[in-house]
Amino acid sequence: MYWTKKFAIIIAAALMLGMTVPKAGAQTKSTPSATDEKSWWRNAVFYEIYPRSFADSNNDGIGDLKGITAHLDYLKDLGVDAIWLTPCFPSPQVDFGYDISDYEAIDPKYGTMADFDHLIAEANKRQIRVLLDMVMNHTSDKHKWFLQSESSKNNPYRDWYVWQDGKGETATSPGEPPNNWQSAFGGSAWQWDDKTRQYYYHKFYAQQPDLNWNNPKVHQAFKDIIAFWLKKGVAGFRFDAITTLFEDPQMRDEAVKKDKNGNPIMREGEPELDDTMTNNLPGVHTVMAEMRQEADKFSTDKFPGTRVFIGETYLPNIAELLKQYGTPEHPEFQLPMDTQIGFINKLDVSAFRSKIENAEVDLGDNVPLLVFDNHDNPRLDARYGDGVHDTDIERVISTVLFASRDAALFYYGDEIGMKTTPPASKEDVKDPVGLRFWPTFKGRDGERTPMQWTPGPNAGFDGPTAKPWLPVPPNASTINVQTEKGDPNSLLTWYQELIRLKKTNTAFSEGADTMIDTANTKVLSWKREAPGVPPVVVTLNFTAEPQTVNLVGAGLPDGTLNTLLKTPGATNPDSLKAIKLGPYGVYIGQLQFMMSH
Ligand code: NOJ
Repeated sequence: MYWTKKFAIIIAAALMLGMTVPKAGAQTKSTPSATDEKSWWRNAVFYEIYPRSFADSNNDGIGDLKGITAHLDYLKDLGVDAIWLTPCFPSPQVDFGYDISDYEAIDPKYGTMADFDHLIAEANKRQIRVLLDMVMNHTSDKHKWFLQSESSKNNPYRDWYVWQDGKGETATSPGEPPNNWQSAFGGSAWQWDDKTRQYYYHKFYAQQPDLNWNNPKVHQAFKDIIAFWLKKGVAGFRFDAITTLFEDPQMRDEAVKKDKNGNPIMREGEPELDDTMTNNLPGVHTVMAEMRQEADKFSTDKFPGTRVFIGETYLPNIAELLKQYGTPEHPEFQLPMDTQIGFINKLDVSAFRSKIENAEVDLGDNVPLLVFDNHDNPRLDARYGDGVHDTDIERVISTVLFASRDAALFYYGDEIGMKTTPPASKEDVKDPVGLRFWPTFKGRDGERTPMQWTPGPNAGFDGPTAKPWLPVPPNASTINVQTEKGDPNSLLTWYQELIRLKKTNTAFSEGADTMIDTANTKVLSWKREAPGVPPVVVTLNFTAEPQTVNLVGAGLPDGTLNTLLKTPGATNPDSLKAIKLGPYGVYIGQLQFMMSH
């Protein structure tokens, strides 16, 4: 495909313009960098699995580890380098696993430790690495540490959690909570304990008491837990709610956010607080540097390669994100999530352009980890779709994800275009936060519905007579792996093609991003340039109307393009002067010459 009839003419034209012509074959990589043990993560494709919803092997309605193992070939075909499993440890499941009662075991609902070992072995056979979720901010209230802690004020575990006296407490009344801090799931973040007559702090549900990270014993406990799983061969962790480890030692109130008229901003009936006393406090950097030092010790013969730390890092700006990488002397995360880009939540060309530029420029040599979707947010259709062109829009979004210089993380089902399907009635809600705020907020069940494998009963998530823990959306009859596999026009094939390019095309896998045609408010375009290969041009129509872009003079000289990937129905452009894009169309092409700088 690369060697077209026009090639001879282009060589002549390129030589006249003082450009250099690449040697045959220089365009593609012979060894994908993902196979390099030290830097496998730098251009890697990560896939988030919500085990409860991925595949159910024993027909109890809940997905499990054996179900994941059974689908590893699918993930391999897709081009996934690593899977991140949301928590599968023993848990009362109030927050579906984010309330952990034992950090060194597998919840029987998901299988056994032998199933876990088998999953790792089978994944590794396919060069797929396994990452776990590390929840260090809080435990379950049924964890043995908390059971001890709440048992008496003198218990040695008392200061493993954050306990405080109430304000104005009397012998008969708890008084007021120590301050105005709120739980992320609504209401006060303080829970009164009648037995020991103090409040404990919980950033999330009351069944998720926050650990006290000022206690060195807590540090040691997590170093041991991390070592336990690294010895088993896990390739790293995604650190949950990591920016909320510390709280203001003086326990000061948080300010109420005000709108431009000076009135409090309300969210679900409660004033919104600025969270400066409970989020992103500096202590987290010390902890992460310490944990990273622990992880860096592990590189066994059995599972060689860098162990990677991914951070759940919702932060206000790129400068704060940069801090999460740490320093060369004290590294922290290799891949703190860049939530700046993925959660813009509207197709705004200028916002995307400036945020992608930030990631490219302000993060220096660090690798951005782009992510657009997860188990806590409505899926892509609900945040970016228009109800008419959702699949086309999902092509646009996935192109930003895979065609940028980054490591890419996506959520199960995005690759087939699964849609947000919130519960139909309050009785159906499983996520407690959805019950609390129904109907203004229906909780997170809508983005956690079973993976759609087939058009058949229960979408192949489990057996035909089983009852999945959340209902299978009716659109599974058309949106499913079986139907989309092998269809050249499907979203699944689009994902596969993008990932293939990310792995095989040097410019695509290593090239720096530079925005071009930067005055355009309808089409987002950038080029990827790596030494020794011609640049790749990526251009995305962010509108429902057809667009034509002229990239000559907008950062590139004139020339012909070799099409690498385009949306169905798009035409191969004759030149950079007129790239025609349909509604939400995407075009990716590689120049047939190298640019001289
Ligand atoms: C972030 C997780 O992604 C979310 O699902 C969970 O509820 C909170 N952290 C608390 O662990």
